[in-house]
Amino acid sequence: MEDQYDACFDAAVEIARKAGEMIREAFHKPKCITAKGCATDLVTETDEAVEKMIIGHLRERFPDHNFIGEESTAAGARCVFDERPTWMIDPVDGTTNFVHRFPYVAVSIGFLAKKEFVFGVIYNAPQDIMYTGRTGKGAFRNGEAISASGVQQLNQSLVLLEIGSSREAEHLDEKVRNYHNLAKHPVRSIRSLGSAALNMCAVASGEGEAYCETGMHCWDVAAGTVILREAGGYVCDPDGTELDVMSRRCLATCSENVAKEMISVAKYNAPLARDDAA
Ligand code: IPD
Repeated sequence: MEDQYDACFDAAVEIARKAGEMIREAFHKPKCITAKGCATDLVTETDEAVEKMIIGHLRERFPDHNFIGEESTAAGARCVFDERPTWMIDPVDGTTNFVHRFPYVAVSIGFLAKKEFVFGVIYNAPQDIMYTGRTGKGAFRNGEAISASGVQQLNQSLVLLEIGSSREAEHLDEKVRNYHNLAKHPVRSIRSLGSAALNMCAVASGEGEAYCETGMHCWDVAAGTVILREAGGYVCDPDGTELDVMSRRCLATCSENVAKEMISVAKYNAPLARDDAA
């Protein structure tokens, strides 16, 4: 059945592929790298060029939509999240991977309307893998339906965690303590793909059971939230309450039970500035 956002979804897939070509073209070349807020938060000329291309193209087609992009926000644009159809765009999710040629680098495009998740498109450019999910219509990897593993116990789970870019003692201590507690639980093992979007796709594809992070941004997790939920997974705040996409906190699992166990073992309380803080 057609829905009012079909044209937006088709445009997102088309533009993600085009962005992917730009990423592949630059992947093995020397890069111009600069640090944003801190020494571990990197940006390259490709991040900026890809975001400009994506937002320029989409804004032309959908002029009254709202656009939130990682690099536009870094350049000073306000991150306003309201009822309008809203695009949350990370042009290069996994910028550090991109810099080091570690092939987990994705274009991530999430779309919400009236603050509800509508669709997500995540394109792993180096590996040419397209993940899509649309609310009520399933989740797909290169056109084939995917589903989360459905594992019910944390001690049978492969867990994806990220150190992130903030190295402030409070955040670092909390992450290391949670890593320790999960390893001791014990979970089967712990991995980091270096891309929030691809961590969520891994859980959606049954390649891991849980991903948890604080400090990432709305553009890192918006698309993955739709894809994982449509794959039968579960997404919430790391304290078990409803996901607030602006809060910079996310727990994404293959089942509600694994989420419950994660919440009892890993605790995240360090304060964070919200994405929509004025
Ligand atoms: C980052 C990646 C990384 C996560 C960071 C994100 P970026 O996004 O998703 O895995 O740990 O929190 O900011 O900066 O590469 O687009």
